[in-house]
Amino acid sequence: MRIGLLTGGGDSSAINAAIRAVVRRGIEGGHEIIGFRNGWAGPINGEYIKLTAESVSGILPRGGTILGTSRTNPFKLNGAVEKMRDNIKKIGIDAMVCIGGDDTLGVAHKISNLEEPIPAVGIPQTIDNDINGTDYAIGFQSAVAVATDALDKLHTTAESHQRIIVVEVMGRDAGHVALYAGIAGGADAILVPEHDFNIDEVIERIKKRREAGKTFSIIVVAEGAKPEGRQIAYGEKTDAFGHVRLGGVGEYLANTIEEKTGYETRFMNLGHLQRGGIASPFDRIVATQFGVAAVEMVEKGEFDKMVAIRCNTVTSIPLEEALKVRPVDEQILNMAKIFY
Ligand code: F6P
Repeated sequence: MRIGLLTGGGDSSAINAAIRAVVRRGIEGGHEIIGFRNGWAGPINGEYIKLTAESVSGILPRGGTILGTSRTNPFKLNGAVEKMRDNIKKIGIDAMVCIGGDDTLGVAHKISNLEEPIPAVGIPQTIDNDINGTDYAIGFQSAVAVATDALDKLHTTAESHQRIIVVEVMGRDAGHVALYAGIAGGADAILVPEHDFNIDEVIERIKKRREAGKTFSIIVVAEGAKPEGRQIAYGEKTDAFGHVRLGGVGEYLANTIEEKTGYETRFMNLGHLQRGGIASPFDRIVATQFGVAAVEMVEKGEFDKMVAIRCNTVTSIPLEEALKVRPVDEQILNMAKIFY
């Protein structure tokens, strides 16, 4: 078979591990793997390369994606779906493996259901970890490691200066990165989009810590968290999938805390740092399992589905099911509160 492979949406650290697995398992099964450039822009513009064992050699730990990515939405561009189908036919692609988050997987689902379908299999990849039906999306564990390392470093300076430091992390409308990094990094408050928060309550916690002799605090806030029910974004402009650029809640929170308490407060937005660098061992393993499983799904004709991992077992679920935002686990969130 000729299998098309693309990576779409926001990148992360473990994508290359998945690309390598698709290529190596594909070659093992006697298939040819065609890598499309820059997300859905690749099949639309007919930009691709043949991936060989040599082209994926040495990429296992490397962050980013050797194929490039973009937030191109073929369903928002005039004639793009037709162009994509023509190119896929011309190149002789039998099935697509699409690596990405809800936007990329949403397109994979749509093309699998066109009148003349383009059969597709999805691999969940997003640091946000908000894909329904899988315990992990690749990239998440590496992002948590970056954020935890930052929290460890910020702890020492916060303590020396007796400051409050507010750390903003990514995650869009889900608080997985905030929750996991917050627990691992010993945060004194973790604010997630799943629950609106009240700044005065956060201040109360900081004051209680002061009374108990702790003159510094680390607050982790997810970019999508809502002080008094309001999400903060850089302007109103949306991307091709309708998302605004979230960000700024950390700065807002830090300024408000300082204003209301007089405690010296700083903020830091970890931003795209969370998406870069060397992939964690766990991420590399899951990405490898996903890549291999995706090729096996193509061989079995299991299309319009996504590979998933549940309770340490690789499985598959319908793409449609995967597209609902998976909120943080309330049990873990409540457990975290024991520590602040
Ligand atoms: O979906 C992944 C993600 O990193 C989100 O956490 C974040 O809101 C968004 O992408 C940032 O996107 P961009 O790289 O386009 O600024």
